[in-house]
Amino acid sequence: MTARTDWQAWHEPYADPDSPLSRRLRLVQQHIASWLDQRSEERLTVVSACAGQGHDLVGVLAARPDARRVRCTLIEYDQRNVGAARSAADRAGLSNLAVRQADAGDLSSYVGAVPADLVLMVGVFGNISDSDVRRTVAALPQLCAAGATVIWTRARRAPDLNPAIRAWLREAGFVEEAFHAPDGVRFSVGVHRLEGAPRPLDATEVVFSFLR
Ligand SMILES: C[S@@+](CC[C@H](N)C(=O)[O-])C[C@H]1O[C@@H](n2cnc3c(N)ncnc32)[C@H](O)[C@@H]1O
Repeated sequence: MTARTDWQAWHEPYADPDSPLSRRLRLVQQHIASWLDQRSEERLTVVSACAGQGHDLVGVLAARPDARRVRCTLIEYDQRNVGAARSAADRAGLSNLAVRQADAGDLSSYVGAVPADLVLMVGVFGNISDSDVRRTVAALPQLCAAGATVIWTRARRAPDLNPAIRAWLREAGFVEEAFHAPDGVRFSVGVHRLEGAPRPLDATEVVFSFLR
């Protein structure tokens, strides 16, 4: 058993725009922004699992005149990160963004927040067991509205789980819209759209627990 991660300190590399974490953030933000550009609906729903301080969503929505179209729920366990995400959303005037202090591995935490048109699984799959990744991917249609997009990340440390994750997403009814594995960094970012049918939320299911 390793020492538990300080998940507030984990965010510090975001202060350096050249850090791999900041590079990953910019990719995720580009995909959030282009998803918004492609969706013309007046009301859209977003859920972010293990949302941390919300840099991705808050960063995009703060600069969007159409942010009011989007109702967001961030699910984050660490109270300090919950506070930081709420403060950032307040500063950006995002009144439609709620931060829940809850366990994102427990599907009861998503009641009322899903089905979502965009699901963020950013910084999740590298911190849970391979079998929990598989279970979470299989459960994603429970979080999704029809045609929803999922943006996810996973490091490419050996043995690289990314090929398996992409296969599990196909099995779960998703088509791949983008997959980035840049040179010189370990992170990868995937974007998948649900082509299969959404499934009702089973709020009794627990799909992952963090290892670190
Ligand atoms: C790797 S960080 C990713 C944060 C954010 N998504 C990002 O990319 O900036 C993982 C986050 O998950 C949170 N976390 C850990 N276990 C959790 C759980 N069971 N439910 C919700 N959040 C959790 C941590 O506090 C941390 O903020």
